[in-house]
Amino acid sequence: MLGPMSAPQREHWSRGLGFTLAAVGSAVGLGNMWRFSYMTAEHGGAAFVLLYVLMTLLLGLPVMLAELTVGRGAGKSPILALGHYGGRKWRPLGGLFVLTGFAILSYYSVIAGWTLRYTVSGVLGGFPEPSNAEALFGQIASGWDAVAWHLGFMVICTFVVARGVRAGIERASLLLMPVLGLMLLGLAVFAAVLPGSGAGYGYYFTGDLRGALDFDVVTDAAAQAFFSLSLGMGAILTYASYLSRQSDLPLEGARIALSDFGVALLAGLVVFPLIFALGLQHDVGESTLGALFITLPTAFNKLGAAGAIIGVIFMLALSVAALTSAISLLEVVTASLVDVWNWRRAPAAWLCGGAIALVGVPSALNLEVLDAMDSVGGQFLLVLGGALLAVFVGWVMKNPAAEAAGMHPRPALGAWVWLLRIVVPVILAVLAFYPGGLASQSFGKLWKLFTG
Ligand code: PFF
Repeated sequence: MLGPMSAPQREHWSRGLGFTLAAVGSAVGLGNMWRFSYMTAEHGGAAFVLLYVLMTLLLGLPVMLAELTVGRGAGKSPILALGHYGGRKWRPLGGLFVLTGFAILSYYSVIAGWTLRYTVSGVLGGFPEPSNAEALFGQIASGWDAVAWHLGFMVICTFVVARGVRAGIERASLLLMPVLGLMLLGLAVFAAVLPGSGAGYGYYFTGDLRGALDFDVVTDAAAQAFFSLSLGMGAILTYASYLSRQSDLPLEGARIALSDFGVALLAGLVVFPLIFALGLQHDVGESTLGALFITLPTAFNKLGAAGAIIGVIFMLALSVAALTSAISLLEVVTASLVDVWNWRRAPAAWLCGGAIALVGVPSALNLEVLDAMDSVGGQFLLVLGGALLAVFVGWVMKNPAAEAAGMHPRPALGAWVWLLRIVVPVILAVLAFYPGGLASQSFGKLWKLFTG
């Protein structure tokens, strides 16, 4: 057997900011800096931002607290944690979480590979001429180059997870998160002083609010809230399983959500002023998965020498943000092997990392596969997982309010349970299964892939 039976004592975060920074590191990622900006552009600016905030408050925060509660209470990764409170028949939901993490990381790492590649080529030779930008993206985004960078990124990510909760995940977060914050602040200040950036803010903060009434926009906003907060697949649950009894869960949840939104907002304050100042807004109007990866490098090129430095910082920030999120995705899968089958951490991490890297190869070779994986894993499965977890905590767990409170009683927790029982599952079920909702969108994409 590769994984000798040994069940060492469960690790815990060290006191202080260990958990908070790791959880914020999980939440803040490509979702904030790339997906949030492209979805905002796709859905016409401010209306989307507003809906996103609403979805975060109404659906995201309650599910966040549900994950924190189950994870800390059980002290186990998803499969055993759900079994702990609900008996064996609930374990498959934990299995679904692991599968979702597997699926998301397999393509997430491909995009992270692009950001690494842009960083390195930015350092070596600057950013592409506008006329070349699209061709360069094509080269970087799919093909054996993309496979190589994807594998490289998976090696870095696996290395951190293999080292363990404190020596790996916590240390990486303590180092990387402040660096990321500083880089983003610097970029936002740079974008603000560019002549013509005002139009970008105008686009970002005003707009036709009727756009927010569209069913598709609501669905995308909800799915984006789950993706961005790392909810619906047990990442926050797993991180919370290393928390001590004293932690204040509602406070932690609010901190994570606020920081996550703050970074998404800040990333928009970099992207939109930059794009408008350089007159490139029409290029992202018809926004697709890759638009930002074409438009932004063009902007960096147009800005000359300063642009090369700014571009490298931006791409590096994206890589760092992606790394701390990818670590949490891999941790869900790895911790399950460690908890359920008593594997040692290092071999478990390398086996899971290797398997995920392999499954990601088709996404690195074909953008349509990547898009379908994002739709199924990054949207539909997260929303489904969030709905099922809400039902679990609301209806199956005994006295969730007391479990969530721990040593910090709060009267509002009664209302939280009712949100989980009714409001959250009903809204999420409609968004997932309504005709034209997430299920039909994502399976439509899969179907198209297989039938050509
Ligand atoms: N929250 C990450 C982001 O915004 O990029 C992505 C993510 C990480 C989703 C972990 C889900 C997850 F469990």
